Amino acid sequence: MKLFVDTGNIAEIEALAAVGILDGVTTNPSLMAKEKEDPTAILRRICEIVQGPVSGEVVATDAEGMIREGRELAAISEHIVIKVPFTKDGVRACKVLADDGHKVNVTLIFSATQAWLAAKAGAAYVSPFVGRLDDIATSGMHLIREIVDIFENFDYATEVLVASVRSPIHIVEAARMGADVVTVPPAVIEQCFKHPLTDIGLEKFLKDWEKAQAARANA
Ligand code: G3P
Repeated sequence: MKLFVDTGNIAEIEALAAVGILDGVTTNPSLMAKEKEDPTAILRRICEIVQGPVSGEVVATDAEGMIREGRELAAISEHIVIKVPFTKDGVRACKVLADDGHKVNVTLIFSATQAWLAAKAGAAYVSPFVGRLDDIATSGMHLIREIVDIFENFDYATEVLVASVRSPIHIVEAARMGADVVTVPPAVIEQCFKHPLTDIGLEKFLKDWEKAQAARANA
């Protein structure tokens, strides 16, 4: 399963890329709005750092506007994936952009039929939002199970990109279900690195090593 980071922050992306675990990046208008720099410059820099799929989202709501903005985004770098919202206009824009040879990520997916329609329109990725479904007492991960099953049944090339991830448990469940990608906020990736028994274990290894060194020096 591929790991994307869900952020528009260059420093966070640089730090994770340096660890060597990052396959791509997703952004959205809310994440980009938090950053001070020009969005085009940010996306260009992210593509240079990651050298993998980087989703940049359109803000137009009509198909023609989405197609125009999508082409502008794609001109930034070969790594850009054009993110469009799941609306009828978004699906139409997806079809045109995919037919042009662009990779499209259809976002704001909350049902299996939405994912299926996006796949039929040639989406490279669909982004079901698991956390936002959990927020309204509906199982986000149940939706992932449904989409993975449907795409497997019909051999769709569209990848299931699990979004709105709120905890490491979402990541484990996504991997067990065979999702293709998870996009994870930096804070949740950080949580995946931490385990108290790892810290305690390492402390003990180092103390035992020091004790043995001191005993050898005194022998
Ligand atoms: O990038 C889309 C998605 O991951 C947003 O997540 O936490 O705002 O529901 P969230």
